[in-house]
Amino acid sequence: MPFIHIGNTFFSATKDDNLLEVLEREKINIDYQCRNGYCGACRVKVNRGEVNYTKQPLAYTSPNEILPCCCTVKSADLILDMDENVLPQHQDDDDNRLPF
Ligand code: FES
Repeated sequence: MPFIHIGNTFFSATKDDNLLEVLEREKINIDYQCRNGYCGACRVKVNRGEVNYTKQPLAYTSPNEILPCCCTVKSADLILDMDENVLPQHQDDDDNRLPF
């Protein structure tokens, strides 16, 4: 079962899970448009790990970039180079606010 890491947070996926759908499931704030590898809007940098493309993307990527909309995670760990502000706010943040 592959693990996807963003900063100090990680979550799991199966080898068959579309990576963009996994990121959405985990409420990661990621851009996308075509969801088919054409536009490049979902482009993300990878620090370590490999993906399998389920369809050959047409959008340009550098060697350290991937298009989550059209790939699955191949390696045991995929470390994404994303700012931690893409992570969902922790539920407790609101719970810990004072009511005034
Ligand atoms: S959403 Fe268009 S390339 Fe991924």
